[in-house]
Amino acid sequence: MRVLAISSNKGGVGKTTVATNLAVYLRAVREDLPVLILSTDDQGILDRMFALDPTPPAKTLKHAWSQGTLDGVIQLGEYGVHFVPSPSDTSILKTRAERREHLREILERSGWNGLVILDTKSDLEALTQNALYAADRVLLPVADWASLEEAAKVFALLERSGLGKDRARVLLTLVDRRTRLDEQGRPMVDLLVEEIFKREWPVYTTTISRSPRVETLNSGFGKPQAILHHAQGTAVYKQFKALAEEVLVDLKLEEPFVWADDGTPVFAHTQPARRGGREEARRGARADEAPSLAGIAGELLKGFLRR
Ligand SMILES: Nc1ncnc2c1ncn2[C@@H]1O[C@H](COP(=O)(O)OP(=O)(O)OP(=O)(O)O)[C@@H](O)[C@H]1O
Ligand SMILES: [Mg+2]
Repeated sequence: MRVLAISSNKGGVGKTTVATNLAVYLRAVREDLPVLILSTDDQGILDRMFALDPTPPAKTLKHAWSQGTLDGVIQLGEYGVHFVPSPSDTSILKTRAERREHLREILERSGWNGLVILDTKSDLEALTQNALYAADRVLLPVADWASLEEAAKVFALLERSGLGKDRARVLLTLVDRRTRLDEQGRPMVDLLVEEIFKREWPVYTTTISRSPRVETLNSGFGKPQAILHHAQGTAVYKQFKALAEEVLVDLKLEEPFVWADDGTPVFAHTQPARRGGREEARRGARADEAPSLAGIAGELLKGFLRR
């Protein structure tokens, strides 16, 4: 079992969009990998997106929380993704979440042999702290300056609680180069990248663009629609594929490297077959480097380093 939590105290930075769409993409790129998603938020987006049966579920995360296991609670949903139905109100759970180990214990007792994705609410309260503790990796979406400061709080919390900041990876979301912040008119995203580097935070190389298409996928009545199936041909469509591959390698769910022709190991997602040319392979991130260094290979970050 591997557990990936998505967390930001800032609302609307794309936590749920990233969590749900990663689940769909990961199922698609790795059919043999069972993917389970659950949310400590009670907005019910997960249920609307994945539930095959519109009738309210008999058992939700609330039952799992009191019985101490997910047995009988997990449902098979759309796109082959399993999910845990969300309770209509998570405030009761919160009062029973003082022990941060509880969620991890529930997951371990359930014996899920695959990936678990945890979507969280925009807070750093007891349920989110359970998710942070349960996670092998915490993905921190950063969309603007406020969410960057919120990511700082999660890093501080991880350090304070002995989990360590290397458990987290920043993911730039809602990237729009037209958004400018300072007097020189530099794109906000460049300033964010600069700051992230200054603070020496580990990052995911992939970035997710702001996309009008994605906005419409979530805003209709009925089910939120998956980017994989409804946004072909857009930049975010490709970015989610790259993110899914990066997450698989990062969580050691995929062979982390292949051997290039010249005998050096390169990350699987930079292999020449997919990007073309031996030269590319040679320049690819070396497999023996820490995952945080792989971020330097990102186009965005390369641009920053050149300046
Ligand atoms: N890449 C994107 N491009 C455009 N719009 C997006 C993108 N990602 C998310 N959105 C939109 O932004 C809004 C917030 O996204 P989302 O619900 O995923 O964020 P969140 O962090 O989970 O929010 P909350 O804090 O309320 O849980 C939604 O309306 C969603 O459709
Ligand atoms: Mg959300």
